Amino acid sequence: MLLNNFRASVRQETDRRISEHSFVVSTITNNVLYERLQRNVLMLDRMKVANNILNLTAEPLIVDGKTLVLSENGNISSDSFEPLSACTDYTDALEASDSEILTYLLDDGNAHYLLTGSRNYIENEPYSIITVADISGIFDSHYSELRNAALVSFVAAVNAAVIIAILVYRLLPLKRVNAMLQKIANGSYTLKLPERGGYEFRELARNINVMSDSINENVEALKAIADGRKQFVDNFAHEMKTPLTSILGFSDIMRVKKEMPDEERVEYASIIFEETKRLKNLSSKLLELATTENAPLEFEVLYVPDLFSEVRATITPLAAKKGVSFTVQPAGCFIRADRVLFLSLLYNLIDNAIKASEQNGSVALQAAADKGILQITVTDNGVGMHPEQLRHIAEPFYMTDKSRSRKNGGVGLGLSLCAKIAARHSASLSVKSSPGKGTVVTVSLHCQETAGEKGAAE
Ligand SMILES: Nc1ncnc2c1ncn2[C@@H]1O[C@H](COP(=O)(O)OP(=O)(O)OP(=O)(O)O)[C@@H](O)[C@H]1O
Ligand SMILES: [Mg+2]
Repeated sequence: MLLNNFRASVRQETDRRISEHSFVVSTITNNVLYERLQRNVLMLDRMKVANNILNLTAEPLIVDGKTLVLSENGNISSDSFEPLSACTDYTDALEASDSEILTYLLDDGNAHYLLTGSRNYIENEPYSIITVADISGIFDSHYSELRNAALVSFVAAVNAAVIIAILVYRLLPLKRVNAMLQKIANGSYTLKLPERGGYEFRELARNINVMSDSINENVEALKAIADGRKQFVDNFAHEMKTPLTSILGFSDIMRVKKEMPDEERVEYASIIFEETKRLKNLSSKLLELATTENAPLEFEVLYVPDLFSEVRATITPLAAKKGVSFTVQPAGCFIRADRVLFLSLLYNLIDNAIKASEQNGSVALQAAADKGILQITVTDNGVGMHPEQLRHIAEPFYMTDKSRSRKNGGVGLGLSLCAKIAARHSASLSVKSSPGKGTVVTVSLHCQETAGEKGAAE
């Protein structure tokens, strides 16, 4: 655009100078004609013509052979116009042209000149008349505009570079966030994004870290559930296989053997009976486990002494069968519980205590209420457990002594069931044990002094 403006200015100046040139030439011609008429001569000689032209301008007029160079007022002060010698191509062209006005831009290193020339016949003699105009002003203003434009471009370029640098600096963390999100999407949930950069990026990084933490926790929890289920299924398959193998093996022997002493037959039949009992125990415990988790409970207010009487009636003959004494000491309060499930909890704990006891051992079911909390304890003086064994007893199918438990028809699900029943009653279960001395299992839950109180055990 600057170049176009400049070209337009030069063109305008050229047009103006051509008009001026034509005017100067016609003035010279008229003056010469006037002088010739005044002098009443046929033709003015060259000197007269030159003088005439000299009179026209205040400044010297250079007569260079027949080339007349007319300076613009004041612009060319020397009596010869030196730069003209550098543009012989122009003077040659002028020499050859006829009645045509030729322009020429001349740069002598100090100034820019516009030469406007034409070939003219004065007093029958050919003269090349060149008028010179100093148009350095146009060039100067063009150069200054160019300088300004360069400066503006430079400032704009610097600004753009600064803006791009800031944008790149600001967007770098976004790249980091993106890379991290891709890794999280691929399963690397433990990765942490550095909480750096501007406020928004720090917040974003913090939220992404919180998100990946929570994803990680959920994934770990799901893994634990999946692992637990797999473990459960493996153990279950194993617990099914053992009794079934015995039953199958001994029943086959009894089927195949035609003659068999009574003693042997009773032994095999007893094994089949015991293993079948174990399978029955396994299936009923599994059913209880499954229903305890999800089934709706039928809560009712139970009077603890009544509950304990029911337990005593069921347990006493079983304990007596094993030569174990069973004592009951209730507390006179009420609890809110699902009767069937809560009885199952107590039966399982007492069953474990009797199974752990030797002959002549003793098992006690006791209760004590204090400040709205009832503590029910099942105490035995049986084999007891090591702390390491204690840590696992609530895991499904865990048995500290498998052969002993199996002999007693155990499958290792009783305490898992107890833990679930306790959880559904908002009760806590704790076990204290010492090897060779015995075990105390405590169930703690809310209780109320009268049957009508509300809020307890809810
Ligand atoms: N009072 C106790 N004294 C000693 N060991 C015990 C006692 N209670 C539980 N245990 C140990 O904890 C294990 C798990 O008990 P749990 O009741 O879950 O299974 P179980 O009694 O073997 O079988 P079941 O599924 O028939 O109850 C038992 O096998 C036993 O080794
Ligand atoms: Mg048990």
